[in-house]
Amino acid sequence: MKTISIQKTTAPKAKPQDESKLGFGHYFTDHMFLMNYEEGKGWFDPRIVPYGDFAMDPASMVLHYGQAIFEGTKCYRRADGGLQLFRPEANLARMTRSAQRMCMPALDEETALEGLKQLVLLDQEWVPHSEGTSLYIRPTMISMDVHLGVHASKTYLFFIILSPVGSYYKDGLKPVGIYVEDQYVRAVRGGTGFTKCAGNYAASILAGDIAEKKGYSQVLWLDGVEQKYVEEVGSMNMMFAYGNRIVTPALNGSILPGITRDSILTLARQLGYETEEARLAIADIFADIRSGKLTEAFGTGTAAVISPVGKLCMDGEELVIGGGEIGAISQKLYDTLTGIQYGKLPDENHWITRLS
Ligand code: COI
Repeated sequence: MKTISIQKTTAPKAKPQDESKLGFGHYFTDHMFLMNYEEGKGWFDPRIVPYGDFAMDPASMVLHYGQAIFEGTKCYRRADGGLQLFRPEANLARMTRSAQRMCMPALDEETALEGLKQLVLLDQEWVPHSEGTSLYIRPTMISMDVHLGVHASKTYLFFIILSPVGSYYKDGLKPVGIYVEDQYVRAVRGGTGFTKCAGNYAASILAGDIAEKKGYSQVLWLDGVEQKYVEEVGSMNMMFAYGNRIVTPALNGSILPGITRDSILTLARQLGYETEEARLAIADIFADIRSGKLTEAFGTGTAAVISPVGKLCMDGEELVIGGGEIGAISQKLYDTLTGIQYGKLPDENHWITRLS
């Protein structure tokens, strides 16, 4: 692991006072972590510096061809005031998998993890205290060559920024309405769907915007070939409950292998639920909601945690799930996952790194 230099800010910012109004991604802490890469030299100069603007040449390749990947993980404050991370190494390992698909260099995960920990500790006063809040950690890698030819860059910047957050959706744990997208697709076979590349999110914004204007929080993406099978929501993976059985789309290369998805499947099994990863036809999901067989739907993600889905709309038909209320399974899984993350429940799976 490389040595990380630290330059502290001389002008700390005022922290948000009202934690009930944090929302998601509005505030940023006093410092950031940076590390550069050059072909033939590898990752170098890991450093923590005051949070601030980047100076970039307008011909920097990321601005044109979008070699940009990111991650999202969180730091939680325990009731005793101590801090803990939840599976940060899984996020950094996923970044290396994203990098491989995007023809970017594998991350120096060890130095990145150490940088992440030191950065959070330096800005620890920014970790909020209220229930349901946390410090969102955003590791990102971008291509930096100044060149307009379409090929892989030879230089990259990796950085981590921190943002104190409340819930991702404005209504918190209240069930959201989701619009089933049947015109646009998010990912195709052989594409970048399984990566956390910025382009996946850029491609999703138009459909999200249209859905929002219709009164829905987000879209549910269907497969890019037949537009028949459930993929993911974009900011979260989807799960459906049939009594004590929880089903979710199988990882098929075009959906994100969510770390919260994996954690929830593990916890669900440990809690005695049956779990199944399968190809799920949206027509069957709708039929099962109509017949009452499908009892709950919820999304999972770092930002979204567990977000109950109370309504699904497709082809002008809107169906209410579980009376539009949070279901018992969603609540149980939410309580278990957040109980572990905030240190209220034992960490039997060894997912937690205590920082203080
Ligand atoms: C996350 O859950 O961390 C995400 O990256 C989803 C979204 C905010 C882009």
